[in-house]
Amino acid sequence: MSLEKLVNFLELLGYEEVRLKGEKEMERDKLRELKELEEKAKNCCACRLCKTRNNVVFGEGDPQTNLMFVGEAPGEQEDIQGRPFVGRAGQLLNRFLNLYGVNREKVYITNVVKCRPPNNRNPEVDEIESCYPFLEKQIELIEPKVILCLGAFAARTILNLPEKTPISRIRGKEHKIEVGGKEVAVIPTFHPAYLLRNRRGEPEFQKDLEKALKLAGFIG
Ligand code: URA
Repeated sequence: MSLEKLVNFLELLGYEEVRLKGEKEMERDKLRELKELEEKAKNCCACRLCKTRNNVVFGEGDPQTNLMFVGEAPGEQEDIQGRPFVGRAGQLLNRFLNLYGVNREKVYITNVVKCRPPNNRNPEVDEIESCYPFLEKQIELIEPKVILCLGAFAARTILNLPEKTPISRIRGKEHKIEVGGKEVAVIPTFHPAYLLRNRRGEPEFQKDLEKALKLAGFIG
């Protein structure tokens, strides 16, 4: 009998505490697995980026959140601090979140590639491929309702789209994927670094962010 079925059965018999304990037990397992995955990433040398990185940027935030943000790859500041989106693009992202009264600690933020490509070049196909199992497992463990893809690399990787698919064509649309047997809504949008150069994209970014926050239950 599965744990879920056992919990349902015991609840039918009047054991009210069972679900809470069952869920907490599973959460603890998930958190431990996420910690183990982070350790594995910190020791990873599956691609050339491990030779030039200062720090692996695994991801941070609330591992029990409904909303996950996925960017491209760490930049200079992220590589130095070992944290995602802490440079200028990250500050812009924080400002947009603040418009809705959402603190970044309430979501989970990570990248497709966990190590900085030298001179912030685009990640190579083989680098994305060798890093993807980390992202896939993060999604499976965190079980977000919604993923907001920050930029074309995240959207193409998560939605398995052709290499040259332009973000302007796919942004703002809601896609569905299945991870670990669970359905996840995926919304592609512009990368905040793009907005730093193209302020005209801000209204669309804000619309996409608002959509993701609504779907994830952060705002009404
Ligand atoms: N750009 C990204 O894609 N990710 C970061 O963490 C920082 C900048």
